Parts: sequence; structure tokens; C-alpha cells
Amino acid sequence: MTTALCPGSFDPPTNGHADVIGRVMALFDRVVVAVIDNPSKNSLFTVAERSALLSEIHGDAIEVTSFDGLLVDHVREVGADTVIKGLRTVEDYEYETQMAQMNHHMTGMETLFLATRPEYRFISSSLVKEIARLGGSVGGLVPDVVEKALKEKLS
Ligand code: PNS
Repeated sequence: MTTALCPGSFDPPTNGHADVIGRVMALFDRVVVAVIDNPSKNSLFTVAERSALLSEIHGDAIEVTSFDGLLVDHVREVGADTVIKGLRTVEDYEYETQMAQMNHHMTGMETLFLATRPEYRFISSSLVKEIARLGGSVGGLVPDVVEKALKEKLS
């Protein structure tokens, strides 16, 4: 059985995240989505809220976990074979390859990259939050449950 782990902040999950996770589901037997619990980051949604949103979006097809240490340790804990990250831009490439190489240096852990579909390339959780905070529409950028959660959180 092959297990992929998709790590991230998911604050909140976007349609870009959902697309990558859906495509990973088609490639691996087991998919674990791991939410980082980073208290130094000023997150809009709690880890529990982000995890619940991911479960609502993808249902039983994924397992949702959280972690607050090194990614390589969490990968070992859940028994994943590989980490998958989506790549949107050149900036993503620079940042993600450095992390992938460091993680490989530490434990030999492999990271695979999926190119984001062009229609999701411009979507980021940060921009989604900014638009929602300033009263704009995030329709088409995030799943409906996330749009609803953003309205409730920011009302
Ligand atoms: O959604 P993001 O913010 O791009 O996710 C980044 C994440 C959580 C994957 C990354 O920050 C991470 O792996 N953090 C865990 C801490 C760690 O292992 N640091 C060393 C990286 S080489």
C-alpha cells in the first residue's frame, strides 16, 4: 500500500489545495493530510477548524492529522512513503525545493511535486483571507464550506 502525505498550513484550504489533494487520491492508496500546528503563525482558523474543513471537503477518502515538530518526524509517525506538494510559481519552486532537499538530507525522505492546474495558480490562502477580510467575494477560490466558515469567522 502506498501512502502520500500532503502537509500545509491550510489556513484556510483553497480550491488549489482541494485539486492537488484530489489528484493525489487518484495516485496513492492512502492519503494523509497533515495540518501544521504552528503557534508562532497568526492563523485565522484553529488547527481543529482547519482539520474539520479538510474532512468536510474530502470525506473519508483522506486521513487528517496535525503536527507541531519536524515534517520528517511526522512522516515517519504516520508511515508515509512520500510527501507531495503543489507548485504554483517560481517562488514556490525555490522555497519548496530547498525544504525538500533539507528533508532528504535529514532522513532520505522524498518529496514529489504536482504542478498546480493553471486555473488555480493565482490562489493562495493569504490572498483569500485578505479578500474576505475586506468584504470581497471568495466564490470560486475556496470550497463552499470554507466560504461559509470565512463569513462566520469574520462576521
Ligand atoms: O502550507 P505551507 O505554509 O506552505 O506549509 C509549509 C509546511 C508546513 C509544509 C512547512 O513549513 C513544514 O514542513 N514545517 C514543519 C517544520 C519543519 O520540518 N521544518 C524544516 C523544513 S526543511
